[in-house]
Amino acid sequence: MKSFKIRDIAIDPPLILSPMAGVTDYTFRRLIKRRGGVGLVVSEFISVEGLTRHNPKSKRQMRFDEEERPFAVQIFGGKPDRMALGAEMAEEVGADILDVNCGCPAPKVVKNGGGSGLMREPALLESILKEIKKTITIPLTLKVRTGYSDASINVVDIAKMAEQCGVEHIQVHGRTREQGYKGLANWELIRQVKEAVSIPVSGNGDITSIQYGLDRWRESGTDGILIGRGAMQNPWIFRQFQDVIEGREPYQPDLQEKKDVLLEFFSMCREEMPEIVSLGKMKQLAGQFTKGLVGGAQFRQTLYHSHSAEEILDNITIYFETLSEQETFGDGTVEADEDLNLDSCDAPVVPTAMSDARSANV
Ligand SMILES: Cc1cc2nc3c(=O)[nH]c(=O)nc-3n(C[C@H](O)[C@H](O)[C@H](O)COP(=O)(O)O)c2cc1C
Repeated sequence: MKSFKIRDIAIDPPLILSPMAGVTDYTFRRLIKRRGGVGLVVSEFISVEGLTRHNPKSKRQMRFDEEERPFAVQIFGGKPDRMALGAEMAEEVGADILDVNCGCPAPKVVKNGGGSGLMREPALLESILKEIKKTITIPLTLKVRTGYSDASINVVDIAKMAEQCGVEHIQVHGRTREQGYKGLANWELIRQVKEAVSIPVSGNGDITSIQYGLDRWRESGTDGILIGRGAMQNPWIFRQFQDVIEGREPYQPDLQEKKDVLLEFFSMCREEMPEIVSLGKMKQLAGQFTKGLVGGAQFRQTLYHSHSAEEILDNITIYFETLSEQETFGDGTVEADEDLNLDSCDAPVVPTAMSDARSANV
């Protein structure tokens, strides 16, 4: 298992932070990148309708920092001319890679011809890819599902068509649109895509442990791996994966680092966002991050009921001090950490803009 290239861009290590609307923003991406082991980060999916109509939220979603490179912007939409324009804007802001979303199952996205709706409209997808290729010089990549439904699994045909159009990397989330996030990802179909095309292929779905990831990777023969929800539960998962690939023991963060990562995230959020939005973001990350920790459920309750930054900071301090002194917290329960239950691109978990914040229940 080694690094791979998307044209001349090394994806090293071959581990990708999977795009997640409402999660993988400028703040979260840097938090994860700083933990190490991440070869590529991708923006949240960005609406080309918003981008090309100069919606400030869509433009803000393209913001990135040099420390994130290589950085891909992911766009979605169903109109070739708008997609090409959106792609051009991503190139203009300096993105290294342009990624097209063919995976989002949200009805409002599919209804407008975008996201996983494109899986059942290969001709439209082909025009979109060709139109984008005419416009940009950076590499074009595609993120797909396995098909629209079990009755229409077509990911291998889509991948071959995309390769013909000049797509330079295919990322397969091994579920159909109909499946949403239910059941397990089908890595056998991911393997079939890898065999069918000569461009790099990366696999995605359900990786929350190093062993599970290594097994799926070996079986599928893919070039890279994408991890989404697993990164919220364990921000060190990429570094641990890299350690194992390179023959080292996986890194184990101590309690102090676990505390520090929450504080770092909160502090970055507070620099970037209004207070109410950072509180929501903090509750979102802490909700996932504390799944495998002793007394995590009780700690989360204290955070959910915190109404100010000070309360959040106090509760974090109390939790970690109690843990380090007494080695337990609350009833001492450790929840199973395989629960990946999270909203999808259907409904971003917390508001991302000042305007959303007013109506938010955070
Ligand atoms: C909250 C959330 C938001 C998501 N948003 C996007 C998105 O914007 N673009 C995309 O291609 N996939 C999106 N996905 C799908 C993930 O990138 C990934 O394909 C999926 O979660 C399976 O990988 P995992 O099991 O490692 O999480 C989203 C998933 C979640 C949970």
